[in-house]
Amino acid sequence: MTKKNTVTTLKQMKSEGEKIACLTSYDASFAKLQDEAGVDLLLVGDSLGMVLQGSDTTLNVTIADMIYHTRLVSSVTHRAIVVSDMPFMSYSTPAQALGNAARLVSEAGAQVVKLEGGEELSETIKLMAQHGIPVCGHLGLTPQSIHKIGGYRVQAKSNEAADKLKQDAKALQQAGAVCLVLECVPSAVATDVTQSLDIPVIGIGAGLDCDGQVLVVYDMLGLTEKQPRFSKNYLIGKDSIAEAIKTYVDDVKNKSFPSSAHAYD
Ligand code: KIV
Repeated sequence: MTKKNTVTTLKQMKSEGEKIACLTSYDASFAKLQDEAGVDLLLVGDSLGMVLQGSDTTLNVTIADMIYHTRLVSSVTHRAIVVSDMPFMSYSTPAQALGNAARLVSEAGAQVVKLEGGEELSETIKLMAQHGIPVCGHLGLTPQSIHKIGGYRVQAKSNEAADKLKQDAKALQQAGAVCLVLECVPSAVATDVTQSLDIPVIGIGAGLDCDGQVLVVYDMLGLTEKQPRFSKNYLIGKDSIAEAIKTYVDDVKNKSFPSSAHAYD
């Protein structure tokens, strides 16, 4: 019988230096292919607002959307750990966060919930941990703050911003976060954060040294109109989606992805 990945599996992979291959997933057909291709972690990302619903941002995604898509993914996944995004304004107070996270876990089958933000989420993460809900942090480019950030661009470029990011990452770990997504930050910053934390760090546009990599599955299959620089079209030259996903997993595991062409200085 296939053994289900858990937060312990992820921590063990970090300590053994095995790279964690992650992809976003939104429905049962893709989840089944991804699980069978050896993807370690399936992220039901609120990027579904953009790639499934056609919006310019992730801000319109609701908790009902996340419950629906997470259930589709978790119901067919036998090996990969399933992480679900908490959407915009679904965790604005610790009590609201706990209620919504509980629904993602109990109604939808999420094993971990992901929140965007730093130190200010400490109380929320502690409350979740007290109730047995593991949390993944998300720092760097946080798409739910797109109007505050002013555009999809590389974060933590100045020394000051890099220090603040590191401080936030430490605070998330201290509060009880079990893993962290780092999006669009210079490789050196991601390396420093990854080495300074005990919890696994999953990068997207964050260089090769993170403990794992994640991509939006529609990007890595060339389905999105504009391919982000940090992504790669794995369907080119392949006969099937399954083969493309398997190649991505192999590339993450043997450290051929990302190359410097997919990273930022
Ligand atoms: O929503 C999402 O797909 C994400 C990834 C880009 C990390 O958060």
